[in-house]
Amino acid sequence: MARLSDAFIDDLLARTDIVEVINARVPLKRQGKEYSARCPFHDERSPSFTVSPVKQFYHCFGCGAHGTAISFLMNYDRLEFLDAVDDLARRAGIEVPRETRQHNENSDAKELFAALEAATQFFQKQLASSDKARAYLDRRGVDERIRAQFAVGYAPDGFSALRDALGTDARRMNLLERVGLFSKNDKGNVYDKFRDRVMFPIHDRRGRPIAFGGRVLDADASPKYLNSPETALFHKGRELYGLWQVRQANSRIERLIVVEGYMDVVALFEHGVTQAVATLGTATTPDHAELLFRNAPDVYFCFDGDNAGRKAATRAMESVLPRMRDGRQAFFLFLPEGEDPDTLVRAEGAPGFDARLQQATPLSQFLFDSLAADVNLATLDGKARLAERAKPMLAQIPDGAFGDLMRQRLTELTGVGARESAPTTHVPAQRAHRSPAVPAPRRSLVRSAIALLLQKPALALQLSPPYRFVALRQPGVELLTELVALVSARPDIATGALLEHFADRDEAPALQKLASHEMPGDEARWHDEFLDTMAQIDRQVLQQRIDELQAKQRDGGLDEQDKSELRALLAASMR
Ligand code: UTP
Ligand code: MN
Repeated sequence: MARLSDAFIDDLLARTDIVEVINARVPLKRQGKEYSARCPFHDERSPSFTVSPVKQFYHCFGCGAHGTAISFLMNYDRLEFLDAVDDLARRAGIEVPRETRQHNENSDAKELFAALEAATQFFQKQLASSDKARAYLDRRGVDERIRAQFAVGYAPDGFSALRDALGTDARRMNLLERVGLFSKNDKGNVYDKFRDRVMFPIHDRRGRPIAFGGRVLDADASPKYLNSPETALFHKGRELYGLWQVRQANSRIERLIVVEGYMDVVALFEHGVTQAVATLGTATTPDHAELLFRNAPDVYFCFDGDNAGRKAATRAMESVLPRMRDGRQAFFLFLPEGEDPDTLVRAEGAPGFDARLQQATPLSQFLFDSLAADVNLATLDGKARLAERAKPMLAQIPDGAFGDLMRQRLTELTGVGARESAPTTHVPAQRAHRSPAVPAPRRSLVRSAIALLLQKPALALQLSPPYRFVALRQPGVELLTELVALVSARPDIATGALLEHFADRDEAPALQKLASHEMPGDEARWHDEFLDTMAQIDRQVLQQRIDELQAKQRDGGLDEQDKSELRALLAASMR
């Protein structure tokens, strides 16, 4: 993978405060020199995730997750490397150099985004001039404000309105085709995919349109909704319609309401319920569940009350169970026959809809109710069957109080405990304790020097050339040399950025481990220790050369120059 220059990345990280970046997503608690939280990357009860403002990196003693602000954004916000860099650069107010190979890939994506944006604006303009489409939206109660907020538009009838307006040359035609706006006939001629439809753009998490859903105006035309195909930018199992608008409307998202349709989201917003999102005509995928809980602690799923709705709810339940960390809650709301959130909120207003949400079935109850639906719990056989069915599901719940309560509930219902017999119940990773119970292994001098540098890279600036230590023949010397060279080139570098340079190397895990170790003592002590260590290393270099010369002497003798060198070395070693 072509990369941005190391110098740029170093500079970006130097101008970024990792504590700020993480704290905006995972509230951190100050603990001495570091900050801590329960790890967002694995399930745990007690916080073993630490963020060091000095080292500018995070590390989890439980699961080993670690990295810089960039890797945090990649893992937590699930951004690509360049997008994470873009985000941080924007925060820091610096320009991302665009001469790398990814520039090309990126500019290609940029053109695709631009084509979608142009199409969105085209559809919006068409809506402004279509009486019929505006009348439709009026009839459905979608007002101007909401039309603008959701960038609702209209794709005119005919086969080439969009094509004629935007497909002005071969390159543009190609872009429009790749974002899924054209269909092709048997003869290979392309024509507008969306015709005579109200257009709902689907926005990505940065507010860029990546796809469309188009609804017919005319009740008998079919399909009722036409959706963009999967494209390079659009994977429907990973997107939630309305999430961008929810994030714009709420500074803190307490809950998300998952509904089925575009119009449900729009209608809920129209009535002030601004936490609604829709899956795009698919079941709730594990990716959806992840995205939902990353954005809000409470998730309400709305389903039709019929059989299909129950089935969909079961799928949703299966997707959320592995993500039910403590502090998260899922609820299921089954709607009366023939109603959807759109019709309900129009009939009952936000208070009515909220009241229904209050009555929603908690995940725990839904799980046991649906598993026990066809068993008779008054019989031993029925109890055994419920226990059999529940165990694999409960085993998926992450370690925590919720899982404990669920297992307890199963025991109450059946008299059979799930914990002892569920093989997949995982034991949480042993937390590494700060105060080591076992004395640290005796370290070589080189290792100590590296450890100190990882603690405080600027220590390397205490050294000045010639660097005698590079001549030492011991494991780790090359690494030490590299570290010293890196820090001299970038005097401001923090530990996190330093580690980034070694991310792809075999030494990475060892370095990471050394870096996350909290060294005893303060900076003044590290300073003295470092200089002392380097002085001892220099003495070893001296001794190494003395040994060499003495061996040579035994083998065949020294010339005059060797002799004077040896004399000087021996004198120096006495000092
Ligand atoms: P519904 O048929 O429940 O429609 O489809 P709706 O949302 O109530 O729409 P209105 O109120 O009649 O306008 C729910 C969702 O299923 C997907 C769409 O995402 C739709 O919003 N769907 C439905 C399709 O993808 N294609 C279809 O033909 C129908
Ligand atoms: Mn509807």
